Amino acid sequence: MNTDKFEKHILCIGAGYVGGPTMAMIAARCPQYQVIIIDINAEKIKAWQTDDLPIYEPGLLELVKTARGKNLYFSTELEENIKKADIIFVSVNTPTKSFGEGAGKTADLQYWEKTARNILKVSVSDKIIVEKSTLPVRTADAMERILNSNDKGIHFEVLSNPEFLAEGTAVNDLENPDRVLVGSQETARGRKARATVVEVYANWVPREKIITSNVWSAELSKLVANAFLAQRISSINSISALCEKAEADVHEVAKAVGADTRIGSKFLQASVGFGGSCFKKDILNLVYICESYGLKEVAEYWENVVKINEYQQRRFVQTMTRALFNTITNKRIALFGCAFKANTGDIRESPAIYIAKKLLQEQARIVLTDPKALENTRQELGDLARKFDFEADPYKAAMNTHAIAIMTEWDLYKTLDYERIFQKMEKPAFIFDGRNILDHTRLFEIGFNVYPLGKEPLTHF
Ligand SMILES: NC(=O)c1ccc[n+]([C@@H]2O[C@H](COP(=O)([O-])OP(=O)(O)OC[C@H]3O[C@@H](n4cnc5c(N)ncnc54)[C@H](O)[C@@H]3O)[C@@H](O)[C@H]2O)c1
Repeated sequence: MNTDKFEKHILCIGAGYVGGPTMAMIAARCPQYQVIIIDINAEKIKAWQTDDLPIYEPGLLELVKTARGKNLYFSTELEENIKKADIIFVSVNTPTKSFGEGAGKTADLQYWEKTARNILKVSVSDKIIVEKSTLPVRTADAMERILNSNDKGIHFEVLSNPEFLAEGTAVNDLENPDRVLVGSQETARGRKARATVVEVYANWVPREKIITSNVWSAELSKLVANAFLAQRISSINSISALCEKAEADVHEVAKAVGADTRIGSKFLQASVGFGGSCFKKDILNLVYICESYGLKEVAEYWENVVKINEYQQRRFVQTMTRALFNTITNKRIALFGCAFKANTGDIRESPAIYIAKKLLQEQARIVLTDPKALENTRQELGDLARKFDFEADPYKAAMNTHAIAIMTEWDLYKTLDYERIFQKMEKPAFIFDGRNILDHTRLFEIGFNVYPLGKEPLTHF
């Protein structure tokens, strides 16, 4: 029974790209609840308490500030916070397993299991545990068995409430979600816990957008949603390769195809490939689950979505190398953008990192630029970082280069003075538009040799 002014105590374990923004939204929309976010990374927790948040997300700082210190707190203290929590959201990372059975495909659940055991160790009352992380189907079952294997007489109800936010638009996605999904066991206890979590979201999300389901459907829906989104990108990217051969224009094809309301126009933009921490990991997870149920054909079908993504990135490097007279050794090349997409500083699985490494293997001299993700890139590259130049200013980054490649669709890159950039580049100057965001005709007129994706290059020779 709570004795303080708050109706409920909500705890979130994991203060990352999901935990931070999601809990900030709950706190901001539900002043009657206390929301505490904990993480094992003390640096991160410290940063959440400042105006220099550990992640970049438009509108996030303003959102955090509306609740921080009132009903939103960041902490590293596990025990006390678990004890007093009524609902615990778990949004720790679930990377692809890198060792043993299922390596390279299934999710590494060690952080999740550790969290479950911590919860079990210190809890003294019944709790609702909510899976926010993306987890393989039937994880809730295993977690519930671990948690309820106690002789303290306390009961844990494990729910699945996968997060559908997209980085770069997280605040808006949380404020106006297409849907919120809450899955539970179809038991009296399960349905009661589900109603409690639905109640939290109903503070600002219209009821008709809150979908309830059984817990396995909820877990699986998240994997399937990401697989479908990634599949669209791989589909149009595969067609971009065909367009280049068939003298078609992928932009025109996507427009014509997407105009069909049964298909729709979103996620039909050809690019150098999808990135981010989720798509590849979640599809491989789906593949592994299918394989483990003996569904070989289904597994192969989905695995091809990842294969096409890898093909598109390889293809981009090949196009660059061929255009640059079959050798890029010692050529200086600027990569515009390191983030896996615009409006985030996240570089996990970013095509830019893959391409930077590939170009380095060919002994090109690479300069990396990005408005928000340079520091993360430096960290990601580790020892390799010293082999790259880092330059925040795109004009300086482009100086004395033979080529520029657009890696991230930052608005900034659409409005640069490319005439000024062209003047300072080696000639012939090349531009490879890995996001098809630039005015290719204009660039050609300036003097660039222009290589868009999925359409004919515009060259001066
Ligand atoms: N990033 C996205 O856009 C997104 C969207 C939807 C779902 N997801 C899913 O949400 C989950 C989290 O993703 P993320 O991007 O927020 O990851 P993240 O790496 O940004 O954050 C996870 C946090 O959990 C912390 N952590 C790990 N183990 C812990 C423990 N035992 N106790 C306390 N803290 C611990 C880490 O220090 C880290 O700060 C993943 O399963 C991911 O697939 C991510």
